[in-house]
Amino acid sequence: MFDHLSSLPADPILGLLATYRADENPRKIDLGVGVYKDEAGHTPVLQAVKEAETRLLSSEETKAYVGPAGTAGFNAAMQELVLGAGHPALVGNRVRSAQTPGGCGALRVLAEFANRAKEHATIWVSDPTWANHVPLLGNAGLQIKSYPYYDRATSSLKFDAMVETLKQVGEGELVLFHACCHNPCGADLSREQWQVLAEMAQRQGFTPFIDMAYQGFGDSLDADAFGLRLMAESVPEMLVAASCSKNFGLYRERVGMAMAIYRDADSADRGQSQLLNVVRGNYSMPPNHGGAIVEAILTDAGLRANWEAELTEMRERINSLRSGLVESLEKAGAVGDFHFIQQQKGMFSFLGITPEQVQKLQQDYSIYMVDSSRISIAGLSQNNMEYFCASVAEVLES
Ligand code: LMR
Repeated sequence: MFDHLSSLPADPILGLLATYRADENPRKIDLGVGVYKDEAGHTPVLQAVKEAETRLLSSEETKAYVGPAGTAGFNAAMQELVLGAGHPALVGNRVRSAQTPGGCGALRVLAEFANRAKEHATIWVSDPTWANHVPLLGNAGLQIKSYPYYDRATSSLKFDAMVETLKQVGEGELVLFHACCHNPCGADLSREQWQVLAEMAQRQGFTPFIDMAYQGFGDSLDADAFGLRLMAESVPEMLVAASCSKNFGLYRERVGMAMAIYRDADSADRGQSQLLNVVRGNYSMPPNHGGAIVEAILTDAGLRANWEAELTEMRERINSLRSGLVESLEKAGAVGDFHFIQQQKGMFSFLGITPEQVQKLQQDYSIYMVDSSRISIAGLSQNNMEYFCASVAEVLES
């Protein structure tokens, strides 16, 4: 039965990690997978998370099932984090959600849910988008089309072309937006651009589907949710996949939220019964640990303040690495203008070099990044910045 199966190439992002680990060059640099690293190159467990875990360990009384939606406390706290307290959709009792295994779990559950509402509905994704969006959404049955988003030649948004393409999208179709810290390009929509898109969604009737994987990594928890919240005020129905992997540093605990906003409370209850049925027929119910940590942090003033301070520290480190990188590339004499890196947000930017140059950096210098030249900025540090920039400068000249 399985003998005819052919082997597939390694995942373009996760596959890099294995090659990096096997590399014995002491100067090797990992700029592949989007995982925050501190100056020492470690991905620490946040102090707020440690403290929440300690409390949970002594207070937890059962390991009984949590149910397909996860806990009510987690869902309420996350809805408020994402939408902001007092958002009209919350006040109108039009929001329902489920705790999911990571942001990926949320994307997949919502894609299956949308496919149930309209089989093989079209979803428009940005060009480029995160590589895993395509299988997560497409394997659920949705049809994928793309809209122009990022111009590699000018390292900036193609907003006019994006609007032109999205003009043809109407009711019964979905449009996937990155809430902030666009993965892979780091170029985000301005507030004015969100306004234009929200008006289009309202006028044309398409359903926004927002992926929020990096809330707090761009400008702040609230500023990063600006577009999402505006969209949720403008349209009757919307989907949101939120991840707690990056902002809580809970990567391996797999926790996120699949949230839907409905026309009214009655359709919300019906929709939620379908969404929970999707969960039950998939992984039945989410793991508890990560969700319990997030709930503990968001519902305790002290833990929350500590977490927000740690999140700010991560964001500020990435932002200062962005400016440091631009400066060091200039100093190293790298050909080209890299100032765009300073304007972009979140974990990623494209360096803007060719796949051949990416390969050369890997083979000759043990510097690892995705083929598209996407770099995970947090993999840089004071220790490796000079080596990285000198290597890039050499490769650009060769
Ligand atoms: C990334 O894009 O590197 C992260 O979102 C991790 C992943 O699963 O790809």
